[in-house]
Formats: sequence, C-alpha cells, structure tokens
Amino acid sequence: MTLRVGILTVSDRSARGQRRDASGPALKEKILSLGWLVSEMGVVPDDLAAIQVVLEKWADGLALDVILTTGGTGFSPRDITPEATQAVIERPAPGLAEAMRAASLQITPHAMLSRGAAGIRGRTLIVNLPGSPRAALENLAVILPVLPHAVQLLQEDLQAESGHQI
Ligand code: MTE
Repeated sequence: MTLRVGILTVSDRSARGQRRDASGPALKEKILSLGWLVSEMGVVPDDLAAIQVVLEKWADGLALDVILTTGGTGFSPRDITPEATQAVIERPAPGLAEAMRAASLQITPHAMLSRGAAGIRGRTLIVNLPGSPRAALENLAVILPVLPHAVQLLQEDLQAESGHQI
C-alpha cells in the first residue's frame, strides 16, 4: 500500500527563514525509504489560522492519506499545533498520541511535555509530532506499523463503492 503523505513543519523561525527546517526533510527521507509518497511539504509559522488553512487544503483539496505535522506541540506560549489540529479534525484518534507519549517516556521524561494530538478529517489522518528531528523520528517510528491499516480503514467504503461499479 503506497501512502500519500504531507509533511507540515510548524515553526516561526523556519517560516521566517531564520532556521533551516531539519525535521521536515528528516521525516521525508523516512517516508520515502518506506516506498511511500511525500505529496506535499510546507512550513508555516506557529499561527492557528495558518496551520488550519494548510491542514484543510491538504485534507479536503488533495485528500492526502496522512498529514504529519512537526513542531509546536510543547508548552511555549506560541505552541498551538494541537489546537489547530483539534479545530479541523472531525474525529479524534487519541490512541496514536497516547502510544507516542508512552513509548517516548521510555526515552525521555520530556515526552510528558508534548501535547501532540491526532485525528481524522474526511479520509485523512492528521498526526502531530514534536519539533526536533530526533523527537519527530522517534515518535513517527511508534506509529509507522499501524499507518497502512489505519489508512486502509479510512478508505474502506471507497473500495466497497468501486467494487460495486465493476
Ligand atoms: N519525544 C521523543 N521521543 N523524544 C524527544 O526527544 N522531546 C520532548 C517531547 N517529546 C522528545 C519527545 C520535548 S523536549 C518537548 S518540549 C515536546 O516533545 C514538545 O516538542 P515541540 O514543542 O518541539 O513540539
């Protein structure tokens, strides 16, 4: 199953060009190594509306299978990625965030400081990852094994519909 993935880096400094985005490319490399497609990549500031616009566009307009965000999940006053995600999802998928935090706690107590969320909009799964490349990859590794099945479930009635047409 070839997943179509979007990667959105949420960072004021990267959006201003003051810091090179390392997490987006690191996630891209990992996704490509699995034979999946990185259909979209983007960088937005820690701004609720800016994040929402991209999530909605990628979910509704492009119908990506999975959108991974990186950054903006912590406790800093500007960290607002989970709120932007919760504003656009139709159904929460708390198990993914719970699993990432539980696994990350085995690596660092700082895992408790990620407020990352996950949920479904239409047929798109949106998952928040932390901002550092290392943390983003560690969290992604936790959910990778279930992503194909998650996407398969989201597509289920589409396949049934196309079966009817044959
Ligand atoms: N999870 C893993 N696996 N590894 C890490 O190094 N860093 C934590 C946490 N989750 C980390 C992690 C830290 S230090 C913070 S502040 C939060 O993620 C939120 O990160 P963010 O604000 O960059 O999104």
